[in-house]
Amino acid sequence: MKTIGILTSGGDAPGMNAAVRSAVRCAIHRGVRVKGILRGYEGLMAGELIDMNQRSVSNILGRGGTILKTARSKEFRTKSGRKKAFKVIQKHGLDGLVVIGGNGSFKGAYALGKEFKVRNIGVPGTIDNDISGSDYTIGAHTAVNTALEAIDKIRDTVTSMERIFVIEVMGRDDPFIAIRVGLAGGAEDVLFPDTRYSIKDMCDDIIAGRKKGKVSWIVVVSEGVARAGDVAEIIEKKTGFDVRAIVLGHIQRGGSPEAFDRILASRLGYYAVEALLKGHTDAMVGIVSDDLKITPYKQAIKKDKKKVRLDKGLYNLTRILAK
Ligand code: F6P
Repeated sequence: MKTIGILTSGGDAPGMNAAVRSAVRCAIHRGVRVKGILRGYEGLMAGELIDMNQRSVSNILGRGGTILKTARSKEFRTKSGRKKAFKVIQKHGLDGLVVIGGNGSFKGAYALGKEFKVRNIGVPGTIDNDISGSDYTIGAHTAVNTALEAIDKIRDTVTSMERIFVIEVMGRDDPFIAIRVGLAGGAEDVLFPDTRYSIKDMCDDIIAGRKKGKVSWIVVVSEGVARAGDVAEIIEKKTGFDVRAIVLGHIQRGGSPEAFDRILASRLGYYAVEALLKGHTDAMVGIVSDDLKITPYKQAIKKDKKKVRLDKGLYNLTRILAK
C-alpha cells in the first residue's frame, strides 16, 4: 500500500482530530503517503484532496471539530455518487481509505468497498456511542462531560427556585449520553427508549415527592424518545408545577477532547492504518475491554446487546439513588 486517503464524515466529534493526527503520522512512519480528503464523502466526490505530512497535523490533538471538515452526504448514498468517488480514488492513486465517522459513514464505506473493491477501514467517531465492536466511540466521553457541566449549572437554579427541569440531550437513538449524565448529574429520572416508567408514573412520583418535601427535579430526556418541550408541557399539565425545558443541542459536540478520547483516538488511528496494511477491509477498528479489535461493518452497525444491558443497569441505579 503506497498511498491512503483519510476522511472524517457525519457529525463531528471531539477527538476526530486526534484520530486524524494518529493515522497520518502512523502511516508516514510506515512509509505510506497520505492524502487528506476534505468535507467527507462530499469532498471525495468533488476531488478535494490535500497532501498531508507530519506537520499538517501539528497542534490539533486537543482541538475540537475536525480540520478535514465533515458533511452528511445525500449523493454518496446513491451508486452514481459512489462511482464519482471511485473515479477520484483512482485518479489520486489511493490504495485504501481510513473513514472516521459513525453508522452512516460506515454504511457508505461498506457500499464503496462492495461495489468498487475500494479497501477501507472505519474508525468509530461519534458522540452517540451507538456502534457495536467498540466499547466506546471517539467523542462520547467528552460529550457526556460537556452535558454534565451544563446540568451541574442548571442544578443551581433548579434547587434555588424549586422547579422541575426537563433537559434534552443528544445521542440520536442511543441513550449513552442521557443515562450517564443522568447518573453523574443526580437526575431524578431519565427518559430513553427502554424506560420502564411512563410519563404518567413520573408525574405521580413528582406529586408524591413534593408531599414528602422533594421540591426540585431534573428529568433528562434522550432526543431519540421525545422533545423536552413536549415532556415539560405534559408534566406541567399533570402536576400543576412550574416546569422549564432545555435543549442542550450542538454544544455537546464541541470543545477540546478529554484525555480518554485523545487516547482512544490515538490508538484507533494507529490501528486503522495497521489493519489496512495487514490487508483488512470493510471493517471497523474498535476497543473492547481495552484490547484493539476489528469488526466487520455489518456487525458494527447492529445494536450492541451488552451495551443495552449496561445502560439498563445504570438507569436502575440512577432511580435508586434519586430517592
Ligand atoms: O450523530 C451525532 C449527532 O450529534 C446526534 O447526536 C444528533 O442526533 C445528530 O448528530 C444531529 O445532527 P446534525 O448536526 O446534522 O443536526
